[in-house]
Amino acid sequence: FPVFLRRQTRRARLAEAMPFVVEVDGAFAGQIAVDPIIWGATRSAQVGYWIGSAWQGRGIMRLSVALVLDHLLGPVGLHRVEINVRPENERSLALCRGLGLRDEGLRRGYMHINGAWADHVSFAALAEEVHGPDGAGFEQRLTRG
Ligand SMILES: CC(C)(COP(=O)(O)OP(=O)(O)OC[C@H]1O[C@@H](n2cnc3c(N)ncnc32)[C@H](O)[C@@H]1OP(=O)(O)O)[C@@H](O)C(=O)NCCC(=O)NCCS
Repeated sequence: FPVFLRRQTRRARLAEAMPFVVEVDGAFAGQIAVDPIIWGATRSAQVGYWIGSAWQGRGIMRLSVALVLDHLLGPVGLHRVEINVRPENERSLALCRGLGLRDEGLRRGYMHINGAWADHVSFAALAEEVHGPDGAGFEQRLTRG
């Protein structure tokens, strides 16, 4: 864990990653990792997340991801964010669909997990898609209901 922390801190200082913690009533409930961040002409990032089973199914991660996406595509100045989900990960697929992220289709053999190349469904949002004519981001759209 100390090695992981040192690596995350170094990458965050270099603006190559942004590690977030999700706290619920002061308890460490989960994490959102914005990693990697690609600058230059791309200005994009990948987002991953997990939440402890005690807090699952309450919309907490959906709201947390909404806040992070608004931050990345607003103040941070990224142009594109991506979330890649294994097709069998129903909860994560539901989270991305619930946020209204664009489904860009299946990426074959996208990531090496548990000894095999796993397909992933790719979801994405662009800065200009998020802040529509009414100026509302992900979080506002969610909390408006
Ligand atoms: C993927 C993961 C983060 C999803 O967590 P989650 O708690 O299901 O996600 P959400 O915050 O969107 O919660 C959705 C649920 O909350 C409910 N919900 C949404 N808003 C709510 C609210 N305001 N009040 C109460 N419940 C609410 C939804 O109905 C939904 O429940 P359902 O799926 O049973 O219908 C979690 O399953 C996890 O950590 N998995 C392991 C790691 C992982 O797979 N990470 C993603 C890799 S791509």
